[in-house]
Amino acid sequence: MFNSDILQQFSDIQTPFYFYDMDLLSKSLYNLKLVSEKYGYIVHYALKANSNDRTLETVKNQGFGADCVSGNEVKKAVEIGFDAEKIVFAGVGKSDSEINFAIDNSIFGFNCESIEEIEIINELASKKNKKVSVSLRLNPDIDALTHNYLTTGLSENKFGIPLVFLDNVIFKMKNLTNVELIGLHFHIGSQIRSLKPYIKLCDKINQIQEELFENHNIKLKHINLGGGLGINYENPDNELVPDYESFFDTINKYLNVNNNQQIHFELGRSVVGQMGSLISKVLYIKNGVEKKFVILDAGMTDLIRPALYGSVHKIENISKKNIPSKICKYDVVGPVCESSDVFASQMELAETQRGDLLAIRSAGAYGEIMVSEYNLRNKPLAVYSDEMILKNKMKIAF
Ligand code: LLP
Repeated sequence: MFNSDILQQFSDIQTPFYFYDMDLLSKSLYNLKLVSEKYGYIVHYALKANSNDRTLETVKNQGFGADCVSGNEVKKAVEIGFDAEKIVFAGVGKSDSEINFAIDNSIFGFNCESIEEIEIINELASKKNKKVSVSLRLNPDIDALTHNYLTTGLSENKFGIPLVFLDNVIFKMKNLTNVELIGLHFHIGSQIRSLKPYIKLCDKINQIQEELFENHNIKLKHINLGGGLGINYENPDNELVPDYESFFDTINKYLNVNNNQQIHFELGRSVVGQMGSLISKVLYIKNGVEKKFVILDAGMTDLIRPALYGSVHKIENISKKNIPSKICKYDVVGPVCESSDVFASQMELAETQRGDLLAIRSAGAYGEIMVSEYNLRNKPLAVYSDEMILKNKMKIAF
């Protein structure tokens, strides 16, 4: 990922910055396309993971759709040129103007989370004399076996329609003339590293589909299983391209699919996670009473995942990549005035000095997109392997 040519060029770039390996993105997309097409599955890339123009253009050029969770994401997808017929709009709190924008752009459909929301969509669509497609996001009450903040399909989570309300929602929808029920939608969580929760999800969907047919004589055209496939944060180099084969083979094995039914996915992290690294310069090596701290010029404002979820990203001293060095243990921290501004505790690194460059790996998903300007910090730049040109050029105050 970091050959000597690239490392050489890094020394001229203002740190911290995000470095994106565009070859890796292409490989990941190629594999995703190959395996999803084998089963005729439709993939909508989840913009929330990384919505840089370069990323979105590359994803769009491979023919994938877009999964959006805000009006601005829908707008972005339209502007980038995603086929409107492949844009889905999800989210527990869509505002009227966001709904209107999506209706005006004739997107494929809305993933809806309550009857209250569907009634508003119906009202807004009727004012425009349009009929819009709706899928019901159901809460299957399945434990995704991931971080608490990243689990979404448990009955105590705010997401989705509880299964016990399904009959009632279908009954009420019969009176709504400007919405058409076309499918079911699920998303049980993110950074899911075991396929077991997906097997449970398939079983649940099979059961729901049978009941829908028995109770309402309904066979729906679309089933959307959401996203969530995790990546290897501990050893990214062992799994640079995700194992889509096992994922889709498992779904194919356990999910009962009706004739002409279309199966959709909304993958984000697995597509873009490994292509990105946050590159930061070491400002100081500070001696604590018992520990040594590596103080970086990147902080939680540049990558919030460790502070927010306690997540661990692999860190490498890329300045020492080809130099035999002693291995030392450090707490790697940022400059932000918060105790949680810590990237790693007691991490083993090649002996590190002021001025060294560190790469915080697996930061392509939910990295740059979650940047904040807290402490009035600058936003990190985005640098693409195939251009090595500074994007988002901005005036650097300090
Ligand atoms: N579909 C829905 C409805 C979602 O809520 C999400 C992610 C996805 C698809 C894409 O999931 P993925 O394939 O990326 O796991 N900021 C957190 C992750 C939040 C995920 C939110 N929803 C993190 O940094 O880990």
